[in-house]
Amino acid sequence: MASNINSYDFTGKKAIVRVDFNVPLKEGKITDDTRIRGALPTLKLILEKGGSLIIMSHMGKPKGKVKPELSLSQIVDAVSEKLGVPVQFAPDCQAADAQAAALKPGEVLLLENLRYYAEEEGKPVGIEKEDPAYEAAKKEMKARQKDFAKKLASYADCWVMDAFGTAHRKHGSTAVIADYFAPEDRMLGLLMEKEVKAVDNVLNNIQRPFIAIMGGSKVSSKIGIIENLLGKVDKLILCGGMTYTFAKAHGGEIGTSIVEMDKLDVALNVEKIAKENGVELVLAPDATCTDGLDFGTMTVKPGSKVEVHPATAIPAGLEGVDAGPEAQKLFAEAIKGCKTILWNGPAGVFECDDFCAGSKAIGDAIAEATAEGAFSLIGGGDSVACCTKFGLTDKVSYISTGGGALLEAIEGKELPGVAAALA
Ligand code: 3PG
Repeated sequence: MASNINSYDFTGKKAIVRVDFNVPLKEGKITDDTRIRGALPTLKLILEKGGSLIIMSHMGKPKGKVKPELSLSQIVDAVSEKLGVPVQFAPDCQAADAQAAALKPGEVLLLENLRYYAEEEGKPVGIEKEDPAYEAAKKEMKARQKDFAKKLASYADCWVMDAFGTAHRKHGSTAVIADYFAPEDRMLGLLMEKEVKAVDNVLNNIQRPFIAIMGGSKVSSKIGIIENLLGKVDKLILCGGMTYTFAKAHGGEIGTSIVEMDKLDVALNVEKIAKENGVELVLAPDATCTDGLDFGTMTVKPGSKVEVHPATAIPAGLEGVDAGPEAQKLFAEAIKGCKTILWNGPAGVFECDDFCAGSKAIGDAIAEATAEGAFSLIGGGDSVACCTKFGLTDKVSYISTGGGALLEAIEGKELPGVAAALA
């Protein structure tokens, strides 16, 4: 049986810890360190208990290539500062034998980006699924993935899985590696334990009314979770770019707003299921629109129009970029009094100060409901960034470090990273 990190004896042991340090960087500087801060309790606990650390993570999607802009060397100083100890760096995650062997209790080694090796993801590179040779290439890659994971495992005495953000991936370091440790030498980290508990609160300990707020640009990327939530929630707010696919499905005019024309039937079906299940579906009745958002600078170009229109009657040439004032009121009213709240995805282009009012209205209403006793779970990079932008991080119950992983967990799917660490 897997061990519990709190009772495991790390004295004199080397622990290889999978974290998710896939943090956003701008010109080499970390712009949001939520994920690093999230992993600190686990890392500190192991050091306090007399162990040494081999920290491993991916960054971005280099797909088996060395990409300097995705090097974890850029975060060594930040990790070292937050951990309060010097951090050594291994420039090749598959050639860190000597550095790992030399580690003494209290010392820390960070491995270079695991995804510089395609073996981490275990998907054959440069060959399409349709290619007759694909299956053979996949089999060969899976064998190489085992060797890759075995090498990582060889550095340490135990494996700690604390990368919730990547726990939905069955990768070399998140799941396959488990095979190379005895069950008692593998375990979940403290962050994972917290994340799993937060998901459990939303899935199995629902206090009603339960509301989910799903934003983001596409219905298609969220449809799995939306369908799943329709069987659980009392209310569902669908906002962000999805608004316009729903508006179009009802024959509305949406100007140049984002739309998935091949998902109009999906949108109508969501409405039908909501009705059948007695779920109150809340869509934005109006939208703040513009013809001049500069996505590069996230500002409105001088002289551009900014107007509010019904979401189903947006004039040609204008794009809906935020929930309008009516929608903001409606969203806040829907959230008020709810006892379980899940938020994933903003209501507009919140990065632009002119178009963040919809997301702010949601965030503020969640903070108020939380103050009145609701359990609120926020996940996904953009919603977390909203909470930071609006100063709400301490006013919600739990901010998850997971995006896709959180959604899959809420869908009720088993996360390979969790399963492997607990097996
Ligand atoms: C994330 O940012 O969601 C995680 O780090 C997982 O990244 P991935 O989607 O590239 O696997």
